[in-house]
Order: sequence, then C-alpha cells, then structure tokens
Amino acid sequence: MSESDFLKQVVRSVLAGQLKAAADPHRPAWHLAAPVGLLNDPNGFIEHGGRYHLFYQWNPLGCAHRHKSWGHVSSTDLLHWQHELPALLPIEEYEVSGCYSGSAVSDAQGRLTLIYTGNVKYPDGSRTAYQCLAREDELGGFSKLGPVLGLPEGYSGHVRDPKVWHDGSQWLMVLGARTLDSQGEVLLYRSDNLHEWHAIGPIAGSRRGGLGEFGYMWECPDLFPLGDQHVLISCPQGIAPEGDNYLNIYQCGWLAGNFDGKQFDHGAFHELDRGFEFYAPQTTCDSRGRRLLFGWLGLPEENEMSQPTMEYGWLHQMTCPRELYWQGEWLCQKPVDELHSLKGEATGYQGAVLGAPALALGSAWLELTPTGQGMLALGDSLRLHWQPGQVALERRNWESGEWQWRKAPWQGGRIILLLDHSSIECFVDEGRAVLSARYFPSAEPVAVWQGDGEIDLTHWPLGASLVQ
Ligand code: FRU
Repeated sequence: MSESDFLKQVVRSVLAGQLKAAADPHRPAWHLAAPVGLLNDPNGFIEHGGRYHLFYQWNPLGCAHRHKSWGHVSSTDLLHWQHELPALLPIEEYEVSGCYSGSAVSDAQGRLTLIYTGNVKYPDGSRTAYQCLAREDELGGFSKLGPVLGLPEGYSGHVRDPKVWHDGSQWLMVLGARTLDSQGEVLLYRSDNLHEWHAIGPIAGSRRGGLGEFGYMWECPDLFPLGDQHVLISCPQGIAPEGDNYLNIYQCGWLAGNFDGKQFDHGAFHELDRGFEFYAPQTTCDSRGRRLLFGWLGLPEENEMSQPTMEYGWLHQMTCPRELYWQGEWLCQKPVDELHSLKGEATGYQGAVLGAPALALGSAWLELTPTGQGMLALGDSLRLHWQPGQVALERRNWESGEWQWRKAPWQGGRIILLLDHSSIECFVDEGRAVLSARYFPSAEPVAVWQGDGEIDLTHWPLGASLVQ
C-alpha cells in the first residue's frame, strides 16, 4: 500500500471512530489513549525544542496487534497533549509487518531523529528485523532514512526496540534480543553518527550476571544513569511465577549497577510495578534533570481482546507520567509534580476506617494512611486491601469473572491512588512499590470502606486533560 493510501485509511478510521471512542464511560479523562484503535508501548519519549514528545505503538485501523505505526503527541507540561501527524506508517519493505518500538534523539544538528525496528514477517512464520532511522521534516512529519542495522549473528529474528542516547562522546544503543537458542538478552552497540553501528556485546540477560535462566526474550530495554548508579529496565518473557512474584504473562523490571560504557555490572532483578497491567516503559531525562517514565498500562496476549472498550473501538492507555528516584538502593516512582495542577477541592478525613466518607472515585487522587487491617472497595470489580506489612489489589477478571490478587510489601507509609475511570495506579510508601491495573466498573465507583483501624485520608477530584 502507498503511504497516501494508508493515510487515507487512517483519516477515515479516526473520523469514523473518534466520537464513539470518546463517549465510552471507561475512557480516561487525563491519561493518554489513542483516538481510535490499539495503543501499546510508549516510544520516542523526549523533550526537544521546548516540548515533550511522546510517540506510541498504534494500530490506527483497529484493535488487533497489526499495522503497527507510530502515533505522536506533544506537550509543554506532560498533561495537555496535542496530536501531531502520525510519525511512522509501515509502508516500506523493511518494515512491512510493523514500525515497532524505538526511541528518539536530537541528532548532532539538533534534529529530532527516530530509531525504530522495522519488522518483517514471512509466510513460514519466521521473521527478520532492521533497526531504522527517520528524521523530522519541515512539515512536522518524518522522512525515513532506511535500515542502519540488520540482525547480528547468533540471534533470531527477535532483535528490536532500540533505545539510543548520547554519552557525551558517542551514541550508544541497547536492543532487546532472543538468541538462536532462545535466551533473552540486551545487546549494546556504539556509533559516532547514528548510521554506522558497532556491536559491543550483550550486557545482561538470561544466564548472565548471576540471573540464571531468565527468559527467552527481553523486550524494550532502557539503560540510563540515575544518581551515581545506572539502571537497566527491561521486559523479560518466559519467567515462571514464584510466590507473589512474576504473576503477569510477561515481566517488567529493573537492574541497578555500574556501567562503564561497555559492561554492566548489576545486582538482582526487581519488578518495576507489581500490578496486573504494566509493560514496555520508556524513560527520558528532561531539561530539569528529572528521569521521567511512561509505561503501557496493558500487556500483550493475555485477555486484552476482551476488554470492554473494544466495543467502542479503542484499546489500552498509558500510565500517568512518573518520575524515578532512589530511596537508598531502591528504585521508586512518583507521579510527576505537574499532575497536582489537575486537582480540584480537597476533602479530608481522620478517624475510624468504618466512618470514612463515600467519596466519588471516577477520576480522583486519593491519599491514605490506614492502620490495622482493612479494605477499600472501588465499585464491583476492584478492592484495595491493607494489613501490617502488605498492600494488595484484588480485581475481578473481566473475562472469567474470577477475583485475582497482586501484592506488594508495605512499610506503613502513605498510599497514593490515582484513579481515572478504568485505571488505578497505586503508589505505596512514596512509590517504593507501585501497583497498576485496568478495571471496568459497571458504574462510577464510590468508596466503600471496611476495617478495624483508623485512617487519615485526603481526596481530590481530578480534572480532565484531553488530547487536543
Ligand atoms: C512490546 C513489543 C515490542 C515491539 C512492540 C510491537 O510490547 O512487543 O517488543 O517492538 O511491542 O508493537
């Protein structure tokens, strides 16, 4: 298909579907979602030319994992976004099965440049992948510069999701990879010009760095300095559940350690988010020096295609923008400060949990510090439980109707809940643990409280920040 034919289909799909999608009662008021169709990974997150840019994996033509394109929005405050032209559509032979995930940099001339994976699937089920470049043009679109890297020897067709950064003297890139014998790895490359890339080698993965058997594929790696350490975030696939850990179909976690430009000497793997839905996050460092993160509040393959928003022609959303920081040696996340500006009037309560008010929880910021053991029910499909040492989310599976659990350690500190119609992000102990999930209440939830202790709580309704 030619680019203009593809674009016509995108325009038709958006014009025909956007009002219906916007009318869904489960549609977020202040989280990013695609106007129509399927959204998955955040891509190309960067502050460039005085604006934040966020790209996203987008099927503009439907809710299946097909036609992967790059949607594009920009903002000055991480909250109020404006739509930009779709940045990449899968037209060329080297990307015919999708313009897969990747990142953005300001090149040596200060031009916004995208590095992404061109995915090519063959009829026999095999595939190949190319790492490709595209550069911003004068019209706000992107001109493709073609592939700059093919598959390395010893690896399967699953090599993708380039994250590129400049370390002061050279460009570095990490790639997610699956070896020919199905070990997940993160590969490191270097370049002087973004066009010619030289392999340095694997820096982490299954059977490496003391991890033992650790998955057949690692997707969406992101390596960055934070304080005086480096953090590698990545998404290993193929890890079996272990007690309360690794309960989702695929994992997303962090490794911290020392990176010398060639090797990464790291500690243990920790899940970044302990909720039901969270995957493929991407970070950037902004001009204020903050390490910011967006994640996909979704997961591939499980039962995503039976989410009720499918009826309204859209699927999935991003997390809220988060800032990463250390508490000692532990990686923590908090909602960015800008989010406070969406808060309406505060309501406070201190006293017995049983006397806590029936607050409206459609779109809200709720802070609570409870004692004892208790529970907050948010409509008919989600409950937050606490007891000394532990916080848990209990959610009714929208497909099977079964109640399921995700748990996190709790040191008794403040719990912040960010609610947006069909999503919850729960920051425990100032973000030492985060639990994120989608849920689909049959009506706007009102808080129902149970418990034997006291509670200190503050509630703010959150306003909207729709994409213009
Ligand atoms: C992660 C992922 C990436 C890939 C993209 C395709 O969710 O599978 O590895 O680039 O999604 O949409």
